Amino acid sequence: MAWMCKRRAVIAISLGVAVSLLVVVVNYSEKPYVLLQPVFGQTFSSHWMFFRQPHRDFKPHTGYVSVPKQEPLKLHCELCSIVSSSGQMLGQGAGPSIDRSSCVWRMNNAPARGFERDVGQRTSLRVVSHTSVPLLLKRPQQFLGAAAANDTVYVVWGPLRNMRRDGKGVVYNMLQQAAVQHPQARIYVTTEERMNYCDMVFKKETGKDRIQSGSYLSTGWFTLILAMDMCKEIHVYGMINDTYCRSDGYRKVPYHYYEAGSRDECAEYVLHESAPYGGHRFITEKTVFAKWAKTHAIKFFNPTWPLS
Ligand SMILES: *[C@@H]1O[C@H](CO)[C@@H](O)[C@H](O)[C@H]1NC(C)=O
Ligand SMILES: *[C@@H]1O[C@H](CO)[C@@H](O)[C@H](O)[C@H]1NC(C)=O
Repeated sequence: MAWMCKRRAVIAISLGVAVSLLVVVVNYSEKPYVLLQPVFGQTFSSHWMFFRQPHRDFKPHTGYVSVPKQEPLKLHCELCSIVSSSGQMLGQGAGPSIDRSSCVWRMNNAPARGFERDVGQRTSLRVVSHTSVPLLLKRPQQFLGAAAANDTVYVVWGPLRNMRRDGKGVVYNMLQQAAVQHPQARIYVTTEERMNYCDMVFKKETGKDRIQSGSYLSTGWFTLILAMDMCKEIHVYGMINDTYCRSDGYRKVPYHYYEAGSRDECAEYVLHESAPYGGHRFITEKTVFAKWAKTHAIKFFNPTWPLS
């Protein structure tokens, strides 16, 4: 009898171990998001391994840390609508469809108020350039005050010289102060590693070294890279493609929808693309976005991109 009991116990334990092993194997072999699969080719596998995460309990992203606590960003959305700051947004009435998506992302200081019909009213996340931080802080109530109520996450990107945390980073210091004044505001900054990663992706995709070619990445670039990690599906509104400005009868619109009368979008793009130093390579970036849209769930609206 005792022998029988022992045997049963052994069987029970073995079964238990087998089941646990199975659970572990299933969990680890679970397909990560389609979006998180190595899009930039196998050479990046070590980086992508890091961001591979099972669909259900997404891991914190250590490329973005909170101010001042340095906690990694935790975020996941089924459908992210990225609202471009372009004048293309005007008169399209995309607001309601933007607001229907699980998350609404905006860039820099692009306002929703006053443009709701075209750009929607919700803001789940704002990707902000280090150079735009002073613009946000000029209207702290509109941005950071409302952010608490609206639950907006801020992700600020910038070079180390402005973002260093040793007291010498001018922009980081501003954010730290803002975080004290608006303790509810959720402010994150890109880490130095993440900035280098974004540069590396540019080099991989274009063959050009960003610094040597005298250019700056745009907020759109950082936004798309973040979205590919955080969103299952991405809808981009108001972004033109790489040949738009050469196409017949293109719409001449202001560079920013909230700056009527400013230089028009295509003039600005051409100026930047050819600037020997200090320009954004907006057009080159669009070529890369079109490539990403072939392997990711990314769609472009107003204007629609005819992707094959
Ligand atoms: C906050 O949300 C309200 C509506 O819920 C909207 O009117 C307002 O513009 C939003 N503020 C920001 C900064 O997004
Ligand atoms: C870019 O957009 C223009 C205007 O919408 C369109 O005619 C053209 O086919 C698009 N080009 C590509 C490569 O998608």
